[in-house]
Amino acid sequence: MKHSSITTTATFIALYVTLGVGDDTFMSHFEYGQMLYEKPRGVACAACHGKYGEGGTIARYKDENGKAYALKAPAIATLDFTRFYRPFTPQGHSRKDIMPVYHLTRQEVRAIYDYLRDVRAQTKRRDDE
Ligand code: HEC
Repeated sequence: MKHSSITTTATFIALYVTLGVGDDTFMSHFEYGQMLYEKPRGVACAACHGKYGEGGTIARYKDENGKAYALKAPAIATLDFTRFYRPFTPQGHSRKDIMPVYHLTRQEVRAIYDYLRDVRAQTKRRDDE
């Protein structure tokens, strides 16, 4: 059934793009943020920053002396929005950065930010139960 869910998702995104606006009847702000976080323009934030923005290891490698290194992506779930938005601005992203350059609008970055905040709140609530 995996195939049909991919088709449904693709249809959903196509619909969303066709309609052009964040119409809540088709996709909630939460779902939009989730979709972007997991697959923004094909490169997932989650692959580096972890499923919930908790941070993650991108790669591990050893130098010629066998010393081990880990390339890490920082935790991003609890930043304030100004800081969160920085890597998406020309001044906030340096060429030396490992993080790819994204061309996301402020609203798209906001949707990702809100998604991570909401997911975090939900996870917390579950822990409290
Ligand atoms: C290839 C791995 C990778 C991907 C994909 C990626 N990032 Fe990053 N991100 C990093 C790394 C590494 C840093 C630390 C700065 C650097 O070296 O680029 C970073 C920095 C950040 C920061 C700044 C953290 C701080 O403390 O100021 C934010 C916010 C962020 N990323 C959000 C995102 C979002 C949202 C996405 C998806 C649209 C994303 N990143 C995709 C690797 C990645």
